[in-house]
Amino acid sequence: MEPTEPSTPATDTPRVAVLGTGIMGAPMARNIAAAGIPVKVWNRTAAKARPLADHGCTVAESPADAVADAEVVVTMLTDGDAVESVMAGVAPPRGAVWAQTTTAGLAATERLAARAAKLELEFVDAPVLGTRAPAEQGALTVLAAGSERARRRAAPVFDAIGSRTVALDEIGAASRLKLVANSWVLALTSATGEALALAEGLGVDPRSFLDLVSGGPLDSGYLHAKADVILGGDYTPSFSVANAAKDARLVREAAEGVGLRLDLAAATEDRMLRAADSGHGGDDMAAGYYASFPQG
Ligand SMILES: NC(=O)c1ccc[n+]([C@@H]2O[C@H](COP(=O)([O-])OP(=O)(O)OC[C@H]3O[C@@H](n4cnc5c(N)ncnc54)[C@H](OP(=O)(O)O)[C@@H]3O)[C@@H](O)[C@H]2O)c1
Repeated sequence: MEPTEPSTPATDTPRVAVLGTGIMGAPMARNIAAAGIPVKVWNRTAAKARPLADHGCTVAESPADAVADAEVVVTMLTDGDAVESVMAGVAPPRGAVWAQTTTAGLAATERLAARAAKLELEFVDAPVLGTRAPAEQGALTVLAAGSERARRRAAPVFDAIGSRTVALDEIGAASRLKLVANSWVLALTSATGEALALAEGLGVDPRSFLDLVSGGPLDSGYLHAKADVILGGDYTPSFSVANAAKDARLVREAAEGVGLRLDLAAATEDRMLRAADSGHGGDDMAAGYYASFPQG
């Protein structure tokens, strides 16, 4: 891995298209516009894109319209299949950069890079670390793998959405690092849900558990963040249960692809799918907690 790239000054202001304005894509588009970069947005459910007009974005009627004159195309959709289906219907200008920020996993990233080559686009495998709040603050970490030239051309966009860009050369390297990071995030989320469920089942005050570990080697900021969601009962999603199930699957599949068995990823996938089945698919992934209870 190369060291963290210093914030590359924008020598140029590219015209940008953002496809997908969900939890992550909408604040990313807002921050790109706030940086003075012209940005067109498109979302399958148009109602989610329209409010971005009040934040300096141009709302496009179709993905083809959004990318028609783009120099940098950003995709931020649910998964690789969604990106493939949206990008199948568009033809950005030849030579444009495609910054693929969706967590798509390894196999889909390979297919998307091949699609980019066919369209004569410069592909950057660019998944992001961070959730709703860092996306809103323009403080994501962008893992950017691709040619130096493509990364440099996308740098004004990465600087607008993130506070740090980790540069990697080989397409796929960013998605691999992202899956490793997500295996950790998903394990922490499941461990938090199970500890709190056990506390409830055993009649232990969950706050006494949190106090017990606070400030010591067992502590984790993430434990408190997800415990606060569970104890506060506000499951407004930062990262949904459905997407957590998808990511656990991507982690498990990537591991299987190299002959590894990751029991925690498989268990998290199962827990998130059960939570989704009992109606929590759109809730924050902390709601994986409910998978511990017979009634879901
Ligand atoms: N939230 C996080 O904390 C976080 C952090 C890092 C990475 N990620 C990754 O970022 C990506 C987006 O996450 P998110 O949290 O923003 O999810 P989200 O709020 O569920 O947004 C998903 C977006 O994908 C669109 N979409 C889904 N299927 C589609 C299809 N078949 N065709 C066209 N559009 C489709 C949705 O359109 P509609 O509005 O029409 O449904 C929506 O714009 C995921 O890969 C996720 O794993 C998320």
